Amino acid sequence: MNHSPRRSLACLAGCLLLSSAVFSLPAMAQQTSTHAKGPWMDTTLTPDLRADLVMKEMTLDEKIALLHGVGMPTDDPVTPENAASNRGVGYVVGVPRLGIPGIDMSDAAYGVRSSGVNGRYSTALPANVAAAASWDPDAAFEYGALIGRELRAQGYNMTLGGGTNLTREPRNGRTFEYLGEDPVLAGTLVAHLIQGTQSAHVIGDIKHYAFNDQESGRNSVNIHIGKRAARESDLLAFEIGVEQGHPAAVMCSYNRVNGDFACENQYLLNDVLKKDWKFPGFVLSDWGGTHSTEKASAAGLDNEEPGRFFFDERYKAAVQSGAIPMTELDDHVHRILRSMFAVGAVDNPRQRSVVDPFAGFETARKIEESGIVLLKNEHNTLPLSAAQIHSIAVIGSHSDVGMISGGGSAQVDPIGGNAIIPPGKGATHWLEEIWFPTSPLKAIQARAPGAKVTYDPGTDPAAAAAAAKSAEVAIVFAYQWESEGMDLPSLSLPHHQDDVVAAVAAANPRTIVVLESGSPVTMPWVKAPAAILEAWYSGSDGADAVGNVLFGSVNPSGKLPNTFPISEADLPHPAVTMPPPASEHFSGPVSPEQRAAGLPPFDVTYDEGVKVGYKWYDAEKKPVLFPFGFGLSYTTFSYSGLRVEKGQTIKATFTVANTGSRAGTEIAEVYSALPAAAHEPPKRLVGFTRVKLEPREKQTVTVEIDSKYLSIFDEEKNDWTLLPGVYTLMVGGSSQSLPLKANLTVQ
Ligand code: BGC
Repeated sequence: MNHSPRRSLACLAGCLLLSSAVFSLPAMAQQTSTHAKGPWMDTTLTPDLRADLVMKEMTLDEKIALLHGVGMPTDDPVTPENAASNRGVGYVVGVPRLGIPGIDMSDAAYGVRSSGVNGRYSTALPANVAAAASWDPDAAFEYGALIGRELRAQGYNMTLGGGTNLTREPRNGRTFEYLGEDPVLAGTLVAHLIQGTQSAHVIGDIKHYAFNDQESGRNSVNIHIGKRAARESDLLAFEIGVEQGHPAAVMCSYNRVNGDFACENQYLLNDVLKKDWKFPGFVLSDWGGTHSTEKASAAGLDNEEPGRFFFDERYKAAVQSGAIPMTELDDHVHRILRSMFAVGAVDNPRQRSVVDPFAGFETARKIEESGIVLLKNEHNTLPLSAAQIHSIAVIGSHSDVGMISGGGSAQVDPIGGNAIIPPGKGATHWLEEIWFPTSPLKAIQARAPGAKVTYDPGTDPAAAAAAAKSAEVAIVFAYQWESEGMDLPSLSLPHHQDDVVAAVAAANPRTIVVLESGSPVTMPWVKAPAAILEAWYSGSDGADAVGNVLFGSVNPSGKLPNTFPISEADLPHPAVTMPPPASEHFSGPVSPEQRAAGLPPFDVTYDEGVKVGYKWYDAEKKPVLFPFGFGLSYTTFSYSGLRVEKGQTIKATFTVANTGSRAGTEIAEVYSALPAAAHEPPKRLVGFTRVKLEPREKQTVTVEIDSKYLSIFDEEKNDWTLLPGVYTLMVGGSSQSLPLKANLTVQ
């Protein structure tokens, strides 16, 4: 659903102070106060039993009320039903008389969504793709935990974060919200992120289930994909997320999959999610993603968001007429209630307080520091030595005042508004570039106090080249903005930035390029600059993180979670498949009446199947610009002594040594080739670990491999099968640098 333009926000600390007064609204008190003393409030009972007990007391209307939201409080006027909400994007009223609070939802992909309008700012973490580049489950937990704490502090008890779609189409405008192209990496990280969020008693969610891998025509696109390919790719990421993260909720997506909309898709919801994965939680529709009453309910949709067209009066009538059995209604209600009990949302009522958004800066900076990827570093140009540099030209991308962020429903409001708009006038609007007030120019100046640091906006290649020529070192920032509701026209840098980078690099041999992007970018100039850093969308304190990496107080350790191709021509689908030109259903809002009447589908066939990302380039033998899993360090690492054992579990043991003179962290990656009879791409990621090493230190590490990650999905058996044969395990520092190999024979 498109969201209406946000109202402007223009206040700073004043809002925070003012807001504490505003927060003692009676609505909140009414929301959290409960006189319910029923047996379901006994915290020693299981969530399922508690749900059963409370359901015995509920009327039909109270049950139906849990099946739908009451609109989007952000945009709607205050009504008696939504008055207790925190004015986020969704609200389910709950059953206050029985002590069941309302479910108060906010988007929270990389921080609590645009709540600056209410004077309640939050921390912007680096984009999810940056967290994925850290390959660090603990960092993902911290990421989720910070979001959970800030949601609670703002008064919410449910997140709408947890984006898990694979980067099957890197021009997808939401690539920044997701966790890369590999199901084991994305699934492991989202599981930890959700655990973090739910540790704050906030209802966790993973989305958009499933195959919402492009934004173009997302409301009606019909994705075709075979079962085995589906289970081994995008669905595997969700499977790991559900099994290891135990999210309370899963959001089904807008698109169709093999003919049926995801939110009324029997295969996706009931067969796979609820039966095969034993998901005990509830499924809520994406905003305006419900298309029917009986079909959706029977297929496994539990909750319609944000409104109540299909799952309110129509639903009640269907129950009363017997068209929907009471047991089906009860199953939906049970899932919602047991999830609320399971995460502690009932026992730990939210207490609205004032978020200190500055308190999150350190976490945001640290995650960014571990997610920045050093792509190139000729002649050890980096790190810069402040003592030896007399002049630096900083160029491009508003790097004098800020760094870009990802847009759409993920958008977090910068404190004080958009940094590129004069102070006091900063506003955030849907489909508009929002820059965070974190200034690379200032961060660089602070780290090189003795140097003359100049700024050029990078809008004219000749002027930028002249600025670069007059300095010892040129640091050129280049960006590509993306957002929900659009796909990128290409992977090229927009606004003639390729020309600027090329001109700067031609003028100064010590040119460093810093990229701010959510998706991979193509680099026709890649040979020219001495160094290239990928900084992604860097969050509230991105400039300090970039400064620390440039000047070496942080040794970069991030690795690419997405392949950077040489050109779009190398992608499985060289052009994004667009809806027919006359289609009104691009990605904007579609009314429930239109949805009930049916939307004309357009078909996209994922004939690359399981070959997503590096699996595609490997199988097609296509060279790439920078491979999946690649990233340099200021030190060097060597690998030795791989041993693979299969007992109860499969273990790969090997030694990593720091062969350089700086402390550093290496992400060690374990891949496997399957026996030829499996007919799989040449290799797949099966495990990884981060190894922190002092200079000259070495460590022997063991990576445990889930046998599912070595298995194929057998459609006949509807299960994973570990085929007999020889598996070649490969270990190293990127998908294309795997010095260690060992065979494992499965009988
Ligand atoms: C997005 C979801 C988001 C929801 C609520 C939809 O348009 O696809 O990711 O959670 O809106 O804002």
